[in-house]
Amino acid sequence: MSANQKSYKRITTNSLVEMKQQGEKISMLTAYDYSMAKAVDAANVDVVLVGDSASNVMSGHETTVPITLDQMIYHAAAVVRAVHRALVVVDLPFGTYQSDPKEALRSSIRIMKESGAHAVKLEGGSEVKDSIRRILHAGIPVMGHLGLTPQSIYKFGTYTVRAKEEKEAQKLIEDAKLLEELGCFAVVLEKIPAELAQKVASQLTIPVIGIGAGSNVDGQVLVLHDMIGLTTEFNPRFLRRYMNLYDEMTSAIKNYVGDVKSGQFPNQNEQY
Ligand code: KIV
Repeated sequence: MSANQKSYKRITTNSLVEMKQQGEKISMLTAYDYSMAKAVDAANVDVVLVGDSASNVMSGHETTVPITLDQMIYHAAAVVRAVHRALVVVDLPFGTYQSDPKEALRSSIRIMKESGAHAVKLEGGSEVKDSIRRILHAGIPVMGHLGLTPQSIYKFGTYTVRAKEEKEAQKLIEDAKLLEELGCFAVVLEKIPAELAQKVASQLTIPVIGIGAGSNVDGQVLVLHDMIGLTTEFNPRFLRRYMNLYDEMTSAIKNYVGDVKSGQFPNQNEQY
């Protein structure tokens, strides 16, 4: 921590705005279970996202589309039990907020009451403005998500960089401003040109958190399982792997299997 960096006992949505004002970068990581969330919180990550990427990394689905509200609440409640410092944000899964603002509010209330999380995140801009307004009116903080929005994968067709064309870039800027006007406390920008992300971050007062959006934004988010190398098949340019946990785990498990087969586990000290 640098000398003028404030130390926070508990991160709130206001702390994040304050960090942006002070020029302190915001760290955000996903977590989906108690043990992982405990490690993430102990490492002083500012925001823990219970992402719908759980659909991919926890359940092995190809997309985030299948995960249900009940499953998100199960993951979120486990994470909340582990986290004492970070702000816990939970993704509203596909199909629980797009069709009707009342349903969006009902889904958000279930997340807040049944998991104890602090905020919800949803994908999209003007298309979901009525849902966002409704959720915010009930006093539930909302984080936006623009750019590559994985719940729309079947509309996009691919996971390539978004908003490279002027028209899409312009819509993204307008949507980001709309999210701020509506009262969202932060916005995630996924896989867009760094220059565009910088432009958005400089025009908003709320924090802009990037994933594959370059360094000139207010914070960064990665999927925990990608960042620790527990997943191996996903290799986008923006991903930095800080360890190769899959290899380390497999090697440890092989040692265990070998010890069991050879009778070396348990030894004299490991029995009663
Ligand atoms: O679900 C998720 O993990 C996310 C992040 C990639 C931002 O939305």
